[in-house]
Parts: sequence; structure tokens; C-alpha cells
Amino acid sequence: MIKDKISQITLEAIQSCQKQENWSALNISEIKIESPKDKKHGDYAVSIALEIGKMLKKNPLKISEIIKNKILEEPSILFNKIEVVSPGFINFFLAKDYLISELSKVLKEKDKYGAGNTKKTIVIDYSAPNIAKPFGIGHLRSTIIGQSIYNLYKFFGFKCIGDNHLGDWGTQFGKMIVAIKKWVKQDNFNDLTVNDLEKLYIRFHQEIENHPEIEEEARLWFKKLENGDKEAKDIWQICVNVSLKEFNKIYDLLGIKIDYAFGESFYEGKMMSIVQEAIDKKIAIKSQGAVIIDYPDKLPTVIILKSDGATNYFTRDLAAIKYRLKKWKPDLIVYETGAEQTLHFKQLFEAVELLKWTSKDKLVHISHGLYRSRTGKFSTRKGQTIHLEEILIEAIKRAKQMIENSEAIKNLSNQEKEEIAKIVGIGAVKYNDLSQHHSRDIIFDWDKILNLKGNSGPYLQYTHARCISILRKTKTKLDLKKIKNIKLNSEEEDILRDISRFPEIVREAVQKFSPNLICSFIFDLSQRYNLFYQFHPVIKAETEESKILRLAITTAVAQILKNSLALLGIDTPNKM
Ligand code: ARG
Repeated sequence: MIKDKISQITLEAIQSCQKQENWSALNISEIKIESPKDKKHGDYAVSIALEIGKMLKKNPLKISEIIKNKILEEPSILFNKIEVVSPGFINFFLAKDYLISELSKVLKEKDKYGAGNTKKTIVIDYSAPNIAKPFGIGHLRSTIIGQSIYNLYKFFGFKCIGDNHLGDWGTQFGKMIVAIKKWVKQDNFNDLTVNDLEKLYIRFHQEIENHPEIEEEARLWFKKLENGDKEAKDIWQICVNVSLKEFNKIYDLLGIKIDYAFGESFYEGKMMSIVQEAIDKKIAIKSQGAVIIDYPDKLPTVIILKSDGATNYFTRDLAAIKYRLKKWKPDLIVYETGAEQTLHFKQLFEAVELLKWTSKDKLVHISHGLYRSRTGKFSTRKGQTIHLEEILIEAIKRAKQMIENSEAIKNLSNQEKEEIAKIVGIGAVKYNDLSQHHSRDIIFDWDKILNLKGNSGPYLQYTHARCISILRKTKTKLDLKKIKNIKLNSEEEDILRDISRFPEIVREAVQKFSPNLICSFIFDLSQRYNLFYQFHPVIKAETEESKILRLAITTAVAQILKNSLALLGIDTPNKM
């Protein structure tokens, strides 16, 4: 990668200066490379001379001059200029030959352009809706963000394991069993929907006021469930089946399939030994009948075994980590959930380190913010949950209206149009989510989500389709040897620069768990391409050389848009 290359040659230059110039007091092992916003300052810049100046108490400008001259001793075809500017920056300007070679790399590597080859393993815990409750907006975010992180890591060479940690165990199932037994006729058990289950759960809590004894009943039923009682297990299974049926509809709409769904229930039977291990290792203690972990002065205490012997969410998460470490030997385990679980994961990771299972830095919690509507909170009437499936179907409906009058698809069959509307509608919802840093709240505004002219999924899909439609009109062979001596105009040069940065953007998005970096990159690229297209004809370019170059640029832009949108879990129709 060019960034690494610059880092390396700068470092080597400094090392040889060190001997010649007697800069003995230096100990530099890493050079930070910046990408200046304004291209006047080069494509890349380093400010290491400022640091060295401070360390050696010498003029940084002079130091940067010395480093630059050292670099220039070994001529490189990568740069057409390396300059020093006050107070001590070294700016690197990429050479045309390098830009063209990178362009040819995109054409050659196609959907592999920008990919990495890190041979490591990562487990990604995402989506994780709760059985007997609706698939919430938070789970939508977790699904979209988690999947994108999965795609990014996979593209970077990682072996990825997706695990849907379904909320399918816990004391709430004691309540569900009591409610179903009391208020649903046995004949109707199999017709229950998630909505019914949710209502039953609410009713249970309302009835506690007049019948406090049902709480004890629920506790007993959860115990029975944990002890493998058949009736309890059967009713629990009904809840699971009903919910999974609904969740799968949503996964189908989103086009998402998660590798595993062990769920919390899988760890039933694997927890007592962990509680014992924690006690033996003197990490957990018994307290008032319960077992707890104390983190004096650091974090609040957690319970890992309740006084009635029941386990909880925390215990199941401990068991899940132990299982994953053993089964997959991952280098990293990543969790994507709402920000309200930040403390839970802090406590969890701390416990894992205390237990000496692995070090904390192999465990990452990525948290997302809330969904808000333009007017404030994102909800319909008070107490009503938003139905996610309806939102997704609405997105498809609106996408259909949006593309209905498009020239490009007027000859397609109805079914094909439906297909495109689905890709555009779902893509729009995903992009709206991913285009902001995950920690931030998301504004849900249909006009923005489906705005063909703004920073939206449809705009990027449209730019891609436009490139494809240009390319469809020609059979010109893209022999880049023929454009060796071409002079670039400034729009062409700018796009080529952007294109060449894709691999480093992917790497940064991977390292920072930030799909939003991919989004802003492709938005800029699309704007640049559309501007370029406005000024410079492609098929009707002035010369054959220009035509080849511009077609190659168009091909590369389409390819990078496709690769990037795929990383975001968004499809790219060839027409829209
Ligand atoms: N089911 C949980 C919830 O809805 C999220 C689970 C996240 N994963 C985990 N390993 N704790 O809040």
C-alpha cells in the first residue's frame, strides 16, 4: 500500500540520516502519514520532522530538507514531486504513472481490488433479537452494522464467524409460560404470533398488581424449564418457532444470513462450571445467597448466579466467550449492540481478563446510537412498537414510486422492476444507517433516505448504473498501454487519485470498525465522477486515448462502487 511505502522510505531516510548527521538521540519506529484535505499540500504528508526537531532541539524545516534530500537520492517512479514546506512538513505528490498503474490494477483485480490477506479469525456477535419480542430497531442497526463489519473483515482476509446470540433464555420465559398457560387455549398455541407473545408479556406485568403470586409461579416455571421439564420446554419451543419465523422474514428482506445462531439457550448446562471456576479462581464470591463479581473501585458489581440458583444474561455471555475461544480460537471477538449495554461489556471483558481466558484487547464492543425521527423520538403512538417489517416494505414501496418513471427500466418486466425496487429500498435503509458513525443517533427521514441527489444509497446505486450504461454502449478495448503518454486534465487526475486511495480506506474502515468511512469515500467519488462526466464526454471523447482513459475510469468507478456497496451489504442493479 502506498501509505506504507511512504512510511517505509521516510523511515529508511531518517535512519541513514541518523548516522550521517549524528542524530543519535532518536528512536523512531513509526511514521504517521496524513492525507491532506487540500491537494495543494500533496497526496500524502508527513510531519515527523517537527517531532525530530523537538527531540533534537533543531530547526524542523532544516530537518525536513535533509530527510527529503535523502529520499530523493533513490529516485522513485511513485512521485512526481516531493516538497518541503514550513514549518517542517514533507509533502508527496503522486506521479501520473502510479495513478495509471493503480487504475489498471482495478481493472485487473476487479472485485478483489482493495482486498487484504490478513490470516486471522474474528467472531462477530450481531443482530441478536429476543425471542417472544418484536425484532426492534436496535436489532436492525445491529444486523446492518454487524453484517457490514463482517463483510469488511472478510474482504480484508479474515476468517469471519457470525454468531446470532439470540435472546432465547432467561427468567422472562417463566413469565411467558405462565401467561400462555393461563390466557391462551391449548388449541390456539400454534397460531400465536410475536405480537400475541408481546401482548401476553405486557398482560403478565399488568396482572401482577392484582395477582402477585404469578411472579412466584413464573420463577418456578423457569426453574422447571432449566430442569428440562417437557411441558415447559414445549411451550418455550413454540415461542422460539413463532419468533424465528418472523425474524427470518426480516432477514430475507435484508438479504442477510448469519453463520450461526447458538443463542443464549445453548449455554444452559455450561454455566455452573464457569460459576465454580470463578469462585475457585477467587474472582467471584458468595454474597447473600448469590454469587457476584466485585471490581473494587473500578466497575459496579455483577451477579453471575442469583440467590435462587438462576443464571442470567451475564453468565450466558461468559459461557459464550469461553465456548467461542475454544471452538474458533479467534484473534478478536466483536459485539455489536446498543450503547445501553456498554457497562455490561466492560464488566464482561474485565471478568474474562480476571479469569485469564484471554486478554481484554481481543474483545471489542461496538455500540450504536438510537433511531430518531425528524421530529424527535422514533415511535408511533405511545406504547406502540414500531414494526420493522412494515418499515422495510414501505421502503420498497417508496423506492418503486421513485424509479417508476425512469427511462432506463421502462422496458423491464414488472417482476424485474419489483426486484430493483427491493434492492433500492433496502439499500436505502442500510445506507442511511451505515453512512454515519455507528455511535451516533440516526435520523429517519424518508426524503433523505431516498433522495436521488443526496448522500443516499439510491444516489450511489444510480451512479453505478449510469457508469454501466455508458460502458454498455461501447466495445472499445481498454488497453492502458495505449495511454502511456496521455496528459491528464485536472478532473481526471482527481478521480484517479481518489481511486488509488480505496485500499487504504478499506484498511482504515476495518481497523476502526467504521463502515461509514467507506460511505463517505464513495459519496465523494460519485460526486467527483458525476462532475467529471458533466464536463468531459466519455464515448465521444476528443481523442482515442482520452476515450480509453475515460472508459477505464468509468469502469473503475463502477467497480469500486460495486465493491464498496457490497461491503455495506447493498446490491447494485445494472439499471435503475
Ligand atoms: N439479545 C440482546 C438484546 O437484545 C443482545 C445480545 C448481544 N450479544 C451478546 N452476546 N450479549 O439486548
